[in-house]
Amino acid sequence: MARVALVTGGSRGIGAAISRQLKTDGYSVAATYAGNDDAAAAFTAETGIKTYKWNVADYDESKAGIEKVEAEVGPIDVVVANAGITRDAPFHKMTAEQWHQVIDTNLTGVFNTVHPIWPGMRERKFGRVIVISSINGQKGQFAQVNYAATKAGDLGIVKSLAQEGARAGITANAICPGYIATEMVMAVPEKVRESIIGQIPTGRLGETEEIARCVAFLASDEAGFVNGSSISANGGQFFV
Ligand code: CAA
Repeated sequence: MARVALVTGGSRGIGAAISRQLKTDGYSVAATYAGNDDAAAAFTAETGIKTYKWNVADYDESKAGIEKVEAEVGPIDVVVANAGITRDAPFHKMTAEQWHQVIDTNLTGVFNTVHPIWPGMRERKFGRVIVISSINGQKGQFAQVNYAATKAGDLGIVKSLAQEGARAGITANAICPGYIATEMVMAVPEKVRESIIGQIPTGRLGETEEIARCVAFLASDEAGFVNGSSISANGGQFFV
């Protein structure tokens, strides 16, 4: 039986590349999305990967959605908590709403995604939890107090889950992508983006597939001894 993988935010950007890679690797994949029905329908039509719509910031919606995926696709073996948003603003201009939107989606969203899946993984004595953090959780970023807080929080989540899940055959790891050629990065003003690219020794943005291949490794049986760690994929922009 093929293993089942759930990818949140899995129909666009980095998440779409992850969904495709896992499907290529033989997993039965379910991808979630929050609002863009057209993109999700196009993604399903192109890839055959089923998409499910729910808001990861809402626990009850997440739990109900996960129950539906498990009924339709099967018990989830691999969960990739990838869904995330930015609401960038210098701190003196950041509103409480911008703070809460990002915390609710990017950080509480990880709890809401992994928590309902965790008991089944413990029972079945296998699981792979992979959280998509960010270079900006490692180094901080101008105008991203909210986002950087969530991405640094991801690292605390996986280090703690790693200790709790190890005896049950579950690993929990993070990937810290640098600046990847996605809509999120393309939304950064061009001048700022050019200056960021200037700080990347590789001299280019990363490709979504380069992150997807990191996920494929962490999801594999071969990665069973990799637990509580993070993979930096940032073109040499920042070393931990
Ligand atoms: N470092 C130092 N100063 C900076 C700066 C930086 N990185 N970026 C902007 N500034 C300065 C500007 O030069 C400007 O200074 P002056 O007032 O002296 O001209 C000031 O800060 C900006 O002030 P504004 O009032 O113009 O700022 P704003 O309210 O219009 O906000 C911004 C603009 C939101 C900061 C915009 O520049 C921006 O989006 N920056 C990019 C932030 C960023 O890198 N986000 C990452 C998104 S990608 C992602 O998050 C994916 C991932 O995981 C890597």
